[in-house]
Amino acid sequence: MNKTSQVDQIMAVMETAFDPQWGEAWNRRQVEDALVLPNTFAILNTGDSKNEIATGFLITRHAPGEEELLLIAVDPKYRRQGTAQKMLSQLTIDARARGASRIFLEMRENNPAKILYLGVGFEPIGRRKAYYLLSDGNRMDAITYGLSI
Ligand SMILES: CC(C)(COP(=O)(O)OP(=O)(O)OC[C@H]1O[C@@H](n2cnc3c(N)ncnc32)[C@H](O)[C@@H]1OP(=O)(O)O)[C@@H](O)C(=O)NCCC(=O)NCCS
Repeated sequence: MNKTSQVDQIMAVMETAFDPQWGEAWNRRQVEDALVLPNTFAILNTGDSKNEIATGFLITRHAPGEEELLLIAVDPKYRRQGTAQKMLSQLTIDARARGASRIFLEMRENNPAKILYLGVGFEPIGRRKAYYLLSDGNRMDAITYGLSI
């Protein structure tokens, strides 16, 4: 898949998946700029094999010995069907192949994605106080999670 259609698919999911109150969605420019970097990768889940429409994506960045999950999202119409779990399994395989032994991620404290992360074995390893600035001006802690792979 070329980069344009990959970005199109990511943006289609991005537009449906994020609640604007948290200000977490990336814009097209941010996605494009990330994916031209040689250490940054996307995994797409294509649910409809005929049209190759992505139902979910993740974006990940490799550094020596580790991987950072930057963003994961699933179209609300396709949630709770194991799509995120499947993409995280693929991430584990890809990250190992790149030589990573740990995956890290950072999450806003009240995100229900916590249940997903704990379910696949991530453990909370740190807290960054008032790390996120919300669209209403309030701040929220970030929790850092780590997974040994
Ligand atoms: C978080 C997100 C990616 C999960 O995608 P998903 O495909 O629905 O997740 P899965 O179906 O793989 O979930 C696997 C398990 O994780 C847990 N889980 C996932 N989403 C959950 C939720 N909203 N509330 C409670 N548990 C949840 C459940 O245990 C679930 O298993 P079950 O459905 O059998 O109970 C999706 O809700 C999303 O796009 N959210 C908005 C974007 C976001 O906040 N991303 C994370 C921070 S970047």
